[in-house]
Amino acid sequence: MDLDDVKKIALFGAGTMGPGLAQVFAAAGYVVGLCDLRKEALDTALTVIRSNLGTFVERKLLSPEAADRALGNIMPTQSVDEAGQDADVVVEAIVEKKDAKRELYERLNRICPDRAVFMSNTSYLNIFEVMSPERQPNTVIAHWFAPPHIVPLVEVVRGPETRQATVDFVVALLKKVDRIPAVMEKFVPGFCINRLLRILGREVFFLLDNGYISPEELDVAVKASIIPRAMVLGLVQRYDFTGLDLSAGNLENAEYLEPPIDNAPRSLVERVANGDLGVKTGKGFFDYGGRKLEEILKERDVALLDVFANSKHLIYKKI
Ligand SMILES: NC(=O)c1ccc[n+]([C@@H]2O[C@H](COP(=O)([O-])OP(=O)(O)OC[C@H]3O[C@@H](n4cnc5c(N)ncnc54)[C@H](O)[C@@H]3O)[C@@H](O)[C@H]2O)c1
Repeated sequence: MDLDDVKKIALFGAGTMGPGLAQVFAAAGYVVGLCDLRKEALDTALTVIRSNLGTFVERKLLSPEAADRALGNIMPTQSVDEAGQDADVVVEAIVEKKDAKRELYERLNRICPDRAVFMSNTSYLNIFEVMSPERQPNTVIAHWFAPPHIVPLVEVVRGPETRQATVDFVVALLKKVDRIPAVMEKFVPGFCINRLLRILGREVFFLLDNGYISPEELDVAVKASIIPRAMVLGLVQRYDFTGLDLSAGNLENAEYLEPPIDNAPRSLVERVANGDLGVKTGKGFFDYGGRKLEEILKERDVALLDVFANSKHLIYKKI
């Protein structure tokens, strides 16, 4: 399929990721069938998209007319069939459960046109194991990062049967909507960036659970050091500036022990058990003090847009 043939994008899942994904494609002129089984998820998604578009207008990244057109391109629905029929591209961003994804793909396999290209936003799952054989050539994992309407990277992972033409098509589509795709040649759980985050997370929870540092102090520490530095030196080039001899010597230090693998870190599972799930419930490691979700998201987005405005990887042009 040519990019010019794409008219309708069917997007499944209007949770944390769905609204930003819908916004990106709708702002680029595509009709987006946004499907969630829950009406309240669709209602919240539209409130968040309106607020996000408002921020882009305030920052002169979109005209008010373009923001209105983008909103008008989004067709919310609770019907999988309505969203899926006539879809040229399927973007799947439903709950991270393999059985739910398998069930949705079985249904979409029956209703979507043969030409449809499937892009799954899964973070860790091997989607190629639940996709029917005839759809495999047209399927990739296209893994975005929150908030997807601002963070430009999308990891594109090919499956064993994915056609090169599908990868080329997805890369072209992502570039057309101003993203930065990175193609991975084969599947590995967590792809590239989440594997790095997983290792970092192991150390984060080790430090928190053992009382070495508080969440507040830890976030200040990384924001004042390795995170902005990585904007300039990445994770590899920084070794050149440290000195490879020092880096090699540090690895030989026997006093440093890897934290034990703990897949149920106390500071995380206790909060989940209490229903403190992060901004979506108003409290996680930090307390958001009863503020509206769209207000909290706006504050984050404005700060992130400032950071990206000074990045070499700026993808937004002022109008
Ligand atoms: N949250 C993140 O930061 C993030 C980042 C990158 C990728 N992802 C991935 O994106 C996907 C979605 O994540 P999320 O955090 O937005 O999830 P979420 O739990 O916030 O939202 C998922 C939504 O899917 C809906 N849903 C479930 N089954 C459905 C179906 N059959 N049809 C339509 N809607 C259905 C649910 O009602 C819910 O609103 C997951 O695969 C996740 O791993 C998440």
